[in-house]
Amino acid sequence: MTTQTSKSDKTVIITGGNKGLGYYCAKAIATLDPNSHVIIASRNQKEAALSVKRLIAQTGNKSIEALPLDLASTTSIRTFVKDFAASNRPPLRAIVCNAGIQVVTGTTYTEDGFETTFGVNHLGHFLLVNLLLRHLVSPARIVFVTSGTHFPNSSPNQTLSMPSPEYRNAKLLAFPDLASTQKEEDAYTIGRRRYTTSKLCNILCAYELSHRLQFQGYSTQQHPITVNTFDPGLMPGTGIIRDYDLIKRFAWTFLLPGFRLFAPYVNTPNKSGKDLAKLILDPEFAGVTGKYFVGLRQVPSSQESYDRKKALELWETSIELVNLTPNQNHGYKLMLN
Ligand SMILES: NC(=O)c1ccc[n+]([C@@H]2O[C@H](COP(=O)([O-])OP(=O)(O)OC[C@H]3O[C@@H](n4cnc5c(N)ncnc54)[C@H](OP(=O)(O)O)[C@@H]3O)[C@@H](O)[C@H]2O)c1
Repeated sequence: MTTQTSKSDKTVIITGGNKGLGYYCAKAIATLDPNSHVIIASRNQKEAALSVKRLIAQTGNKSIEALPLDLASTTSIRTFVKDFAASNRPPLRAIVCNAGIQVVTGTTYTEDGFETTFGVNHLGHFLLVNLLLRHLVSPARIVFVTSGTHFPNSSPNQTLSMPSPEYRNAKLLAFPDLASTQKEEDAYTIGRRRYTTSKLCNILCAYELSHRLQFQGYSTQQHPITVNTFDPGLMPGTGIIRDYDLIKRFAWTFLLPGFRLFAPYVNTPNKSGKDLAKLILDPEFAGVTGKYFVGLRQVPSSQESYDRKKALELWETSIELVNLTPNQNHGYKLMLN
């Protein structure tokens, strides 16, 4: 762990902060607010240690550390929270649920037996946030990184040409019925659909959490705990398509970044990282909760993402799947409707 400077007055946890958007968000937070203590929550300790070193050199903020977290393992998530709670750090004021994965070469499963995309992108963050709630000190902010691909194909985001999300129920996402899906679609389409559906789940989950915090009185105007969602736009060059074939990875890394010169939805991870950092730090967003941001623009998310029935079903099933018991989010009794 990096020695923490005494002036740090807030801790910010960023999942997947070792590369891509998460790295640039960490960099922007450490720069914009030198009083922040940044935790890079990563499954790759070697890479995370190098990222911390680089971040300290680039920002001059020495209060940056790495803590091991694998969102594909509920054991790792629980250990992360225990390790976090065991040390004396500045108050936890923000959680950035940034880590994400796309699996397009066939169905894989997490350590706990959940389909990986749903397991990491949704369930992992669901458990992490719920376990960290008792450690959050208001005013506090939680941001879930989602994607414009959560819209159905008919949306303005069709340029991304990802398959529409398909939300039937959470159990089917955790334990897909391979016999029926594989007959209809190839692994590439199935994998990308799972990704867009997981990004819809991020929004359903964020809106539900925001709702529960407000209506159960844990988030008030004087002591807000806000929960928002962030679409960084298309950021070619990041590692998100690492499971794609060589030609697509080549285009993603070397050709698509040029599109940002004429396509407004194409961003660098540096630019989107700065926007994400502002959502976490700017006083302008202090009381804003339950919203969807494209960059720093607050806009409506898809119609389906406001479906409370789906959000409740997702929430209740997720509690069951990750085995969350009432005493584990003690202080915030969010399991109640
Ligand atoms: N790139 C885009 O165009 C785009 C567009 C819209 C939304 N997004 C969203 O932006 C977020 C960041 O993606 P990115 O583009 O920056 O991709 P990236 O470069 O691949 O970064 C993803 C991060 O997630 C981490 N991660 C993956 N699985 C994990 C696990 N099991 N446990 C802990 N960390 C894990 C990765 O860690 P490792 O280094 O260990 O793999 C990496 O740090 C994602 O939520 C993605 O859905 C991206």
